[in-house]
Amino acid sequence: MEEVPTFIAPPPLRIGSVQLNGNVLLAPIAGYCDVSFRLVARSCGGVALACTDLLCPEGVLRENKRSMELAATCPEDSPLCMQLYGSDPGRLCEAAKWAADHGADIIDINMGCPVDKITKRDGGSALLCNIPGTLEMARRVVQAVRGIPVTAKLRLGWDDHRLVAPFLANRLEQVGIAAVTVHGRTTEMRFHGTVRLDGIAAVVAAVENIPIIGNGDIRTPQDAKEMITATGCAGVMIGRAALAAPWIFRNVQTYLQTGQVPPAPSIEEKCRYMRDHFYNMIRFRNQRVAILEFRKRVSWYAKHMNPCRVLRDAMRVIDSVEDFESAISNFLQWRAQWDSEHPQYCETQQAEESETLAA
Ligand SMILES: Cc1cc2nc3c(=O)[nH]c(=O)nc-3n(C[C@H](O)[C@H](O)[C@H](O)COP(=O)(O)O)c2cc1C
Repeated sequence: MEEVPTFIAPPPLRIGSVQLNGNVLLAPIAGYCDVSFRLVARSCGGVALACTDLLCPEGVLRENKRSMELAATCPEDSPLCMQLYGSDPGRLCEAAKWAADHGADIIDINMGCPVDKITKRDGGSALLCNIPGTLEMARRVVQAVRGIPVTAKLRLGWDDHRLVAPFLANRLEQVGIAAVTVHGRTTEMRFHGTVRLDGIAAVVAAVENIPIIGNGDIRTPQDAKEMITATGCAGVMIGRAALAAPWIFRNVQTYLQTGQVPPAPSIEEKCRYMRDHFYNMIRFRNQRVAILEFRKRVSWYAKHMNPCRVLRDAMRVIDSVEDFESAISNFLQWRAQWDSEHPQYCETQQAEESETLAA
């Protein structure tokens, strides 16, 4: 009989001088993973490291309002990586020093963003097309913030004819980059197609010592385990799935270590995460932003709260903190009644959710 190899969880990640307490990272998602959301994900457990949205060097150096909102953090938001983009080594070095002075434990250089606005200015994944320039810039940033680890987040390459990630990661290690995250798609793929685990594996094989963090399409603890098994990556980064289930990090980390997935949070707990998120937004931005944002954000949370039309409909038209509170309490009341009338559904749904997360 063929023996099934036992899975051994990788040791907690170490990025340069920074020892993390796990292997699961929250991805930067511009417009979504700000400090308000990061704190919620951290409170659920299992987030070894979280990252700001990509920050514009000019914006942080001028300390303009938008950049300061994006770079906002607080002591509980730790350990924190701040991500910068750009192609001007001098400005990037200055911005990296700024980040180091304003709460960054790690600095990441964005080499994967496919958005025209960024690539047309030679930043993001356009850096994959100019390897000598990119290496020189990375070398200078590492020198500029000595002691603070500098990492890079890349895609596999611009397109299938230019799969530069293995070569680039190898050279980035030589200039002092402390870890590389690879989203297993090319720039041309944007977010289409499926993530290529063999592409991530090629990057793992190309470096000597630095950890490679795999990224793309992880929706369940099993996806994470599969990525680690198939690629040999030292950790995983999760983005979109976390917006609907900020507790996914705890589930993935526990599953990697024990093979067990913790029970899904109750509806009350999920509502508590939403409330925390909403009040964090008021704390770090203001009431108006929190209200406008939650009219949209509710659809992410709703993905794991069905049936919840009552909540979605009410939340889409909130206009005050009181409306927000009533939307939640009316939903919880309605839902308690509904659950008592459908005990079978409730159990099946809980079981299905645990299974989806475990499958
Ligand atoms: C709306 C959106 C915004 C993103 N913003 C950033 C960003 O600011 N910096 C970055 O490195 N990646 C960014 N990404 C890419 C994610 O970090 C991640 O690499 C990608 O979503 C794949 O991971 P996932 O399947 O777990 O979401 C963004 C992705 C999306 C969908």
